[in-house]
Amino acid sequence: MDLNHVINTEVRDAFARLGLDEDQAFVSLSNRKDLCDYQVNSAFRLSKTLKKKPLDIADEISKELGKSGIIASSASCAPGFVNIKVSEDFLADFVNKLSGDKDLGVEKIPSPYRLIMDYGGPNVAKPLHIGHLRSAVIGEAIKRMERRIGVEVISDVHLGDFGLQMGLIIEELKDTDPTLVYFDKNFTGKYPDEAPFCAGELEEIYPRASKRSKEDEDFKRRALKATSDLQGGDRGYNALLSHILNVSISDMKENYERLDVSFDLWLGESDAQKYVPDMIDGFVRDGFAHESEGALVIDVSRETDSKEIPPCIVRKSDGASLYATTDLATLVQRIGDYSPDEVLYIVDKRQSLHFTQVFRAAKKTGIVPEGTALTFLGFGTMNGRDKKPFKTRQGGVMRLKDLIDDIEDVMYEKIIENKKEKNEKIDEQRERTTAKTVALSALKYADLSNQAQKDYVFDIDRFTSFEGNTGPYILYTMVRIKSILRKSQTGEKDPEGKIAYNGNEGERELLLKIAQYPNEAGEAAKEKAPHKLCAYIYELCDAFNHFYHETKILADGDEERKKSNLSLINTVLRVLEDGIFMLGFSAPDSM
Ligand code: ARG
Repeated sequence: MDLNHVINTEVRDAFARLGLDEDQAFVSLSNRKDLCDYQVNSAFRLSKTLKKKPLDIADEISKELGKSGIIASSASCAPGFVNIKVSEDFLADFVNKLSGDKDLGVEKIPSPYRLIMDYGGPNVAKPLHIGHLRSAVIGEAIKRMERRIGVEVISDVHLGDFGLQMGLIIEELKDTDPTLVYFDKNFTGKYPDEAPFCAGELEEIYPRASKRSKEDEDFKRRALKATSDLQGGDRGYNALLSHILNVSISDMKENYERLDVSFDLWLGESDAQKYVPDMIDGFVRDGFAHESEGALVIDVSRETDSKEIPPCIVRKSDGASLYATTDLATLVQRIGDYSPDEVLYIVDKRQSLHFTQVFRAAKKTGIVPEGTALTFLGFGTMNGRDKKPFKTRQGGVMRLKDLIDDIEDVMYEKIIENKKEKNEKIDEQRERTTAKTVALSALKYADLSNQAQKDYVFDIDRFTSFEGNTGPYILYTMVRIKSILRKSQTGEKDPEGKIAYNGNEGERELLLKIAQYPNEAGEAAKEKAPHKLCAYIYELCDAFNHFYHETKILADGDEERKKSNLSLINTVLRVLEDGIFMLGFSAPDSM
């Protein structure tokens, strides 16, 4: 169901009747809501070919559009606009149909499309920090939006599990206890099932080793060697790697669960290693790669580049794989296993050059077919109020866990305060659970309502507020609707009334907003732009609150009108539920 299309068709038909070029019939949503719902700006362009004044053409168009079952009025307006108001009865009818559709009118894409999404990207053995937050939050939202329009999505967390950090941990463990069986090169038996460390210990090993490597040249050299031995298949090191993975992954899963973020695949860089040797051989054999200062590189620069794109290094002089090698080998794996139509990466925008190199190398060497799209969605940094990357109060790197804890605490206090103000009963346990739900909305909405590519300032006070463009405001609106529905006779199951237009301005605005949902949700998904969905949801909440403040819903003596209004607000709730599900959070029953 597509309201824009319906209006567009009306205008095209009018153009055809007037003998005008139908392809010039552009309709856009009005930015003067007080004057009209849609506008046609074609007269300006047409005036050149027709050699007539724009206003005269606009006059003709608006007269021809006239009045119909769909268009309530149309008027020309200087210097050459056509302003259209949609018929209220048509809108009510449209919303009834939308409400009766299990998909709320959101259309599926016409043919199958398979999308692999690479997001999350946590690094094993390092605690999740807020640098990984945006990838998880944006990725999860886009995954849900794409699925909603029928795209087949396969999400992969793509663990960072094969870099130098592994060598560092191995060497650090070796120094702590050199007698561990993993370091005995003559050992041929089965390695223990139990890891030689727990999650807490592992978290401390990496920072310690990383610090050491910066001060101790010899240690760093050993770690590099251990990394390349690990990649070369050293049995003991690989057994240690599986321990590190197991311990670290269960910790990550806990974090992602709190964020309501999930992945279909838990693959990592290490899973792509088996594709590396053949891939590199192929690059050399086909003449795509050549030696440069001992390393093996692929040239990816193009004449049209405005700034220089350095060659993509696929093997270091010591034989070790690099970040680009793993990403290329992962593409070999993904194309082989899934033949996707597109692979989408949601990663910090500071990695943009890396992905340019990888994508070009992948296309040039043919490991990714011409028709497969490779897309990089680079997101900006989450900054503190000082406009620098968000830090703890002590100035350290903020752990994701701690950030979520903080927001939950702030939210809990606000909910208690709000309940006290309204003299409502407080149930600490329940309020704690509610605080978790609301905190997630605050965190995710703050992130998603900004265009992903931009940096944004994380201001905990602002984002946890019940007022303004925030997650808690959206949930507060939904809770308000739920409470009205609960108090109404029908309870929370869908009210039966048919939605009719009853003649007030707020209601008209609300009907129009709901009717635009299929367009807005569909466009946001196609553009992979959660911020557009956020903007729509916020406007819908505003439209509802406006309506709510000028309408007696429950106290209405007119039974028919009351039923219609209950159905109307129930539809608003369903749209909001659908929308916030895509954004990756949910609403409590009270707050
Ligand atoms: N682990 C990387 C990091 O923390 C992000 C991985 C992004 N995905 C990829 N295929 N390179 O920076």
